[in-house]
Amino acid sequence: MSHESLKTVQLTVGGKTITLPILTGTDGPSVIDIRTLYAETGLLTYDPGFTSTASCDSTITFIDGDKGRLLYRGYPIEQLVEQSDFMEVSYLLMYGELPNVSQRAHFSQDITYHTLVHEQISDFYSGFGRDAHPMAIMVGVVGALSSFYHNSKETQDESTREVACWRLIAKMPTLAAMAYNYSVGRPFTYPKNNLSYAGNFLRMMFSVPSEEYILSPVLERAMDRILVLHADHEQNASTSTVRLAGSSAANPFACIASGIAALWGPAHGGANEAVLSMLTEIGTADRIPEFIKRAKDKNDPFRLMGFGHRIYKNYDPRAKIMRETCHEVLAELGVKNDPLLTLAMELERIALEDPYFIEKKLYPNVDFYSGIIFRAMKIPVSMFTVIFAVARTVGWVSQWREMISDPMQKIGRPRQLYRGNIERPFVPVEKRG
Ligand code: SDX
Repeated sequence: MSHESLKTVQLTVGGKTITLPILTGTDGPSVIDIRTLYAETGLLTYDPGFTSTASCDSTITFIDGDKGRLLYRGYPIEQLVEQSDFMEVSYLLMYGELPNVSQRAHFSQDITYHTLVHEQISDFYSGFGRDAHPMAIMVGVVGALSSFYHNSKETQDESTREVACWRLIAKMPTLAAMAYNYSVGRPFTYPKNNLSYAGNFLRMMFSVPSEEYILSPVLERAMDRILVLHADHEQNASTSTVRLAGSSAANPFACIASGIAALWGPAHGGANEAVLSMLTEIGTADRIPEFIKRAKDKNDPFRLMGFGHRIYKNYDPRAKIMRETCHEVLAELGVKNDPLLTLAMELERIALEDPYFIEKKLYPNVDFYSGIIFRAMKIPVSMFTVIFAVARTVGWVSQWREMISDPMQKIGRPRQLYRGNIERPFVPVEKRG
């Protein structure tokens, strides 16, 4: 439904008609500007889950859910995955344009320069149990970074804000690899400045002091592609969390810690871990119908993890690319007929032929195949969402930086529909029932 020609809408409340402007962007749905609604009518809008609400305007990422399109600063995700890499995409998301040779070199150096973390950060890890979920560790240690980089300039001065973004992009792989090494009882590995972002991450995760780490170009390329695919995605739950936290001018490191917390949920970034658990529970193809039945049963809380999306009512383009990458990585690793991939593809085939999934436009999303690649790369299930967080940090900081530098920015403070008790007098304990 196109509303390009519409400029205003009218609303009649109690005999009074007000006119509200319609704002039209460069692509996607137009919006009704309701900023004067409460002042003019005394009425609020009601939209839990923000199914029909734009929380901001942004120039960074665009999703066309009906057509299954994803653009970073206007560039289709398929072209970026094929022709670019995570460093270039990070520059693009932060600054709005693809870098030239010099800009790319300088940006890569700016990020590389900040990959080390303060030596005292490593002390935080020993406070966690060895079996602590790495996402719990990441929430803790990224939040702790705010104690090492805290001054009010963090939010007021553009160059300080930019360095905070560089630090977060640069340090997330180091902290993530430390969380993994802590969980398996291995010493932490320092970053090496002569490696790519993805290569550095893999080496910090998997190298052991007793031998030289041989970096596989296949895994390096696969990790880079996965980071690109997960880098940003409009105003999803974790990005909205970062924006809301940032709107109070909170420390940017603390804001990113809040994004990590929101991403962890199985309805959001935690779904990649949940998909692997689900596929493992299904086990064999003959059990797929039983789980499809459960997913359709309103009385059963089970949902097909890795399926469905608030915006995509078509195939998530990232899931398509992830499925292709699955085949490539498994072939390169010499893994023939991976049973989980075979099961996942059969589950996808059956679901996509089922009237329930067709009618509700439920397709595989980014999380459906990613876990299969991670597993083939010997990444433990508990680290799947951590890798999502490493990638999404550039999206979070880019969205935070766009929000905090907007002169019209205000603190986010939603209202409510109150359904509680009306005013009543206090009852002393001796008079209570
Ligand atoms: C990510 O927002 C983003 O951009 C997120 C993300 C990003 O990059 O940041 O793309 C990453 O979070 C991907 C989503 C990962 N989550 C999962 O795979 C978990 C399984 N999916 C669902 O929980 C669900 O689809 C959501 C949370 C993803 C979306 O939920 P919505 O938009 O609130 O949709 P809904 O719950 O209103 O579902 C609509 C209908 C419902 O049935 P009715 O009440 O209309 O009868 O579809 C059903 C749901 O019950 N449904 C499912 C289902 N997903 C939705 N039924 C079975 N299995 C599912 N997976």
